[in-house]
Amino acid sequence: MSGDNNSFIASGSDLMRRAMQNRRLIPDVSHLKPIIDELPAGSVVCEVGCGAGGITLDIAQKYPHITVLGMDVDEESIKLAKEAKEKAETTNIRYVHGDACNLDKLIQVEGFEALDGGCDLVYSHASIMHTGDQPAAVAHMRKATKPNGTTSLKEGDMGLFFAYPENPGMKRWLETFPTLSLGKGADPYIGRKLVSLVLGAGFAHSQLKDVSMSGQMQWRPQVKPGMVMGFGQIVRQSELGEDDKKLIVEGLEEWSKYEDGVVCFPSVIVTAVKEA
Ligand SMILES: C[S@@+](CC[C@H](N)C(=O)[O-])C[C@H]1O[C@@H](n2cnc3c(N)ncnc32)[C@H](O)[C@@H]1O
Repeated sequence: MSGDNNSFIASGSDLMRRAMQNRRLIPDVSHLKPIIDELPAGSVVCEVGCGAGGITLDIAQKYPHITVLGMDVDEESIKLAKEAKEKAETTNIRYVHGDACNLDKLIQVEGFEALDGGCDLVYSHASIMHTGDQPAAVAHMRKATKPNGTTSLKEGDMGLFFAYPENPGMKRWLETFPTLSLGKGADPYIGRKLVSLVLGAGFAHSQLKDVSMSGQMQWRPQVKPGMVMGFGQIVRQSELGEDDKKLIVEGLEEWSKYEDGVVCFPSVIVTAVKEA
């Protein structure tokens, strides 16, 4: 990872980058589907903090008549996204390395001129919380959106995470996860502040079109080992004490074996339409 405004806690983890590559329009940002369905040919959609590009590639493939732009501060993720796009032979998508807090710098890059207030839809998914300067990033998203265009954010709120059954290790993990992010400059509680951030970026209250919650439940046995591996990596690389690390890693492993084990990562969605 590179860039000053990146506080993503799993930065540098290839495991995490590849997990992001498995994300899709449905189910991860299904609230955007009705908006994209209505976009005419030639429209431009941009994901801010696109990671390794699972969602952007899926949108580009499903909507060949629109152009999809993806940007991320992590060069390695952008490299993976470009490789996947080449492999899929998808031509209506472009990726660039950059900082969401200085999005307008990318206007100079060939193919990214639409960031100068010409995008029909600018969205984020689980990325603005990690940017280090969230108000600046949201203001840039609004600036990149064209009049009558849409800005949409879906960001988590780590204060709302829950798991069942909650063994002592899992309980400790749910308490610890937000504080690890805070330590790096992320805002783990951004979900509840999204309306405030969007208004602060210049949208009027009457321009808010959707303010809702989406709770992703993880319950399938096949996803649990990957989750435990990813979280385990974050825990091992953290500055937690050895006793805490052991308690959490063992708790996660035990939880992954419960047939009735669930964990929920709620996100808040805020969508606004810019004035004409
Ligand atoms: C949890 S990942 C989500 C990736 C993608 N949106 C997805 O849902 O698959 C968070 C992403 O935010 C990116 N990020 C963090 N700070 C950023 C910044 N200042 N500008 C652009 N991207 C940033 C990270 O590099 C990482 O790829």
